[in-house]
Amino acid sequence: MRISLEDAVARLRNGEVVAIPTETVYGLAADATNDVALQKIFTTKQRPADHPLIVHISDISHVTDWAASFPEIAVKLAKAFWPGALTLVLPAKSHVSKVVRGGEPTIALRVPNHPVALALLKLSGLSVAAPSANLFTQLSPTTVAHVEAGLGMAIPVLDGGACQVGIESSIVSVSADGQWQLLRPGMISEADILKVVGSKQQIKVESEDEKTIQAQTPKAPGQHALHYSPRTPLMLFNNRANLIQESETLMQAGKTCAALIIGEGNQPNCQVVQLTSQPNEVAEQLYGALHGLDALQVDCILAELPPNAPAWVAVLDRLSRAGYKG
Ligand code: TXA
Ligand code: MG
Repeated sequence: MRISLEDAVARLRNGEVVAIPTETVYGLAADATNDVALQKIFTTKQRPADHPLIVHISDISHVTDWAASFPEIAVKLAKAFWPGALTLVLPAKSHVSKVVRGGEPTIALRVPNHPVALALLKLSGLSVAAPSANLFTQLSPTTVAHVEAGLGMAIPVLDGGACQVGIESSIVSVSADGQWQLLRPGMISEADILKVVGSKQQIKVESEDEKTIQAQTPKAPGQHALHYSPRTPLMLFNNRANLIQESETLMQAGKTCAALIIGEGNQPNCQVVQLTSQPNEVAEQLYGALHGLDALQVDCILAELPPNAPAWVAVLDRLSRAGYKG
């Protein structure tokens, strides 16, 4: 159900959830100070309660409403990239609800770079928690139609057109002593961040838990720890020739398939979505392409992975989590 800006403000003030546009993906928003409203995000998304949410604020002056410290390098990052596709994870003030921070001692903050989202934040005077407006583990939405397909037509949505960045924000945590770490790659790259902060990121220490999870992750459909996934099994290929070969094998076995390919070259003999070879354009179109391929209801989607190069890190991350290696 598409609603006006004024209606969205009224609903948020009333403790309801509203899907809102941002430049990255659509978010499912609720008043970040209202625990009852926040719970509706978790139930609507069917998301586990220990997953923390990102709080969207209208400008940098609101950081200190939420964060107990705002270290110099975090200030530099905020000034360089906000409004924009960067989320900062900072030590939380003790009064910040455990619901919004999923029990973590930190809080994730971002000023979105979308005129409709900014108008909503300014007009309401609220800060809104907003995870991507999709069911837990499924594909993120970059249009109103994607939101409605995933969460149903009854969900109130503020229409802001198609998202221009297309994949979720880069997440950087900054500790009180100024150590930083890239927690989720996005279109603001590690190199972009390094240029601003000047110091290297803290080496990521792999926890025993993460090692166990990786060792137990089988390369098979249905068993993988999937995220950002279409409903159709998604098989990933580093090499176009192998993708084409697999499409032929599947079709010979009487199965249907469709393919996502990146850049020019040979194509498989099935329905194909061909993206360009520009990382920014592929990021913008990625989820839309996957939503479209998913809607075909084929037996399998075959997707080509981009090169393992710095400009492609974020797209590679999302595709790798969405499928399994063919
Ligand atoms: O671009 C985006 O970031 C979009 C738009 C709507 O702003 N939002 C988004 O939210 O992607 P979500 O909930 O789908 O992903 C948020 C990520 C999760 O992986 C969560 O674990 C992480 O942010 N996160 C949030 N708070 C955190 C915290 N305190 N510490 C570590 N990670 C945190
Ligand atoms: Mg998400």
